Amino acid sequence: MEIGGDTPYYTVDVDGTSISCPRRRPAITIIIMTEPARLLIVSNRLPLTADVVGGRAVVRRSVGGLATGLQGPHQQGNGLWIGWPGQLEGLDADARCEVEAQFEEMRAVPVHLTAKEVDVFYEEISNAVLWAICHDRIDRLPLRVTGWETYEAANARFADAVAERWRPGDIVWVHDYQLLRVPAMLRQRIPEARIGFFLHIPFPNPEVFFTLAVRKWLVEGTLGADVVGFHTRRYRGHFTGALRRLLGLEMDASEHVTYGGRRIRLGIFPMGVDAADFTTRGDAPEVHAETLELRSSAERLLVGIDRLDYSKGISRRLLAFERLLVQHPEWRGRIRLVQVAVPSRGRVSEYRRLRREVESLVGRINGKFATPTWTPIQYLFRSVPQHTLLALYRAADVMLVTPLRDGMNLVAKEFVATRSDEDGVLVLSEFAGAVDELRDAVIVNPYDVDQVAEVIHSSLMMERAERRTRMRKLRAQVIEHDVHRWAKEFLTALDPGHDVAGLGGGSLRQPASIDDVVQRT
Ligand code: ADP
Ligand code: F6P
Repeated sequence: MEIGGDTPYYTVDVDGTSISCPRRRPAITIIIMTEPARLLIVSNRLPLTADVVGGRAVVRRSVGGLATGLQGPHQQGNGLWIGWPGQLEGLDADARCEVEAQFEEMRAVPVHLTAKEVDVFYEEISNAVLWAICHDRIDRLPLRVTGWETYEAANARFADAVAERWRPGDIVWVHDYQLLRVPAMLRQRIPEARIGFFLHIPFPNPEVFFTLAVRKWLVEGTLGADVVGFHTRRYRGHFTGALRRLLGLEMDASEHVTYGGRRIRLGIFPMGVDAADFTTRGDAPEVHAETLELRSSAERLLVGIDRLDYSKGISRRLLAFERLLVQHPEWRGRIRLVQVAVPSRGRVSEYRRLRREVESLVGRINGKFATPTWTPIQYLFRSVPQHTLLALYRAADVMLVTPLRDGMNLVAKEFVATRSDEDGVLVLSEFAGAVDELRDAVIVNPYDVDQVAEVIHSSLMMERAERRTRMRKLRAQVIEHDVHRWAKEFLTALDPGHDVAGLGGGSLRQPASIDDVVQRT
């Protein structure tokens, strides 16, 4: 038996050798006449990621909208989260069991990938090709794309891991561009299952998507699902455009297409955040203390928080800040930009190039404007603890969310959810999915560096009353349309007759919280 099972031991494969690990959770046996239906979440990224440092495992909270966003629905549910735990090669058997037990406590089921699969499936295809295409950056594509067979093989591993654990009545929810082939594979393996697919990133304009040699094969992969979901109407429109030209399919008035004798719903489900959780944690005394500390360090604070990804527009954001200091010298010595950039996909050349570009810009701008008592840009190249993230959201006078293209951008919504003081200004790119909902933000074109500089100036000058009015409207939107509503609407679309709440309620075993597990490593 394996993780998700209930024998006192379970076996894991370590580089081809089977080792048996003691199951950590108490061996309670509850006789249930009918197995409760479960939600099986499948994504490449699990909410925890393990790395091997000096032969020891380091387990950390995963960064990224998918991993952070799905925690709520998973925590509240009684299902499993199936995904890649990170690279565990080089761990001895005991250390390996220790890590497996931590994932098991989270009701997370690791799908172990070989080093080659990580290189080709994750880095070369998912991040160097699909990510670039979906963010309209064909200029960043490798000259020749190879490795689709490895992408297919890795997708098959995820599909096998699901099919092995699926029970009649379970709902399967597949996530994101790394797993585009999984819905069709699951349709073959468990034909009667209810299968959902959600794309967390933009579906590109068909003209861009069509540069991929395997475009039809990828789209057919997603059509194994019963419901295919997108953040915005624009992304779904691009997808239906691709379906029309590749497969001659037309979406009908009820948002369905018919393919392979099945009706597939193409729905729009803008993802939210756990707004209540962010509000509560943002009001914690230790966050308030850290916020005051941050506030005391500068008269006015600008904040940017992103994975270090070329889609986030960090370089142009820094140039806009420089333009502000040139066009409005009155701000010199009085404002600071804190830019937190999480290391991401560092083995992909485009991401290494971006790091050099951003760090040389930070150095040049600081070198030009800094004084012995003032450094304009604080640049942090790392993930920050949640309390610091929340304090930065609370301390920001202006939150800069200026991606060049972004599926949704949950940072924008987290910032709003944390501002129970109804203050702070959100400057938001018109190319972020969140713009469709957050109309009361100050909307900018991130490519227009001078416009962004002027908008930062006017945001700093904005009256308190206007700041409050805008933030109140933004908070009403973010609180009402939170992640639980998103999950419920998607799961209801996937299985109207299913007790979606049941999927959420009365779980037999509360998974350990991420922080509990991470703190123990
Ligand atoms: P993406 O999914 O492309 O990374 P999102 O803005 O949708 O972008 O989601 C980013 C997620 O990662 C958010 O939940 C945010 O809180 C988290 N995050 C981003 N930067 C950091 C950081 N430096 N430290 C910790 N968490 C971060
Ligand atoms: O949230 C969108 C997304 O692309 C997720 O699929 C991914 O988990 C996240 O960004 C972070 O990227 P990665 O998993 O490659 O670190």
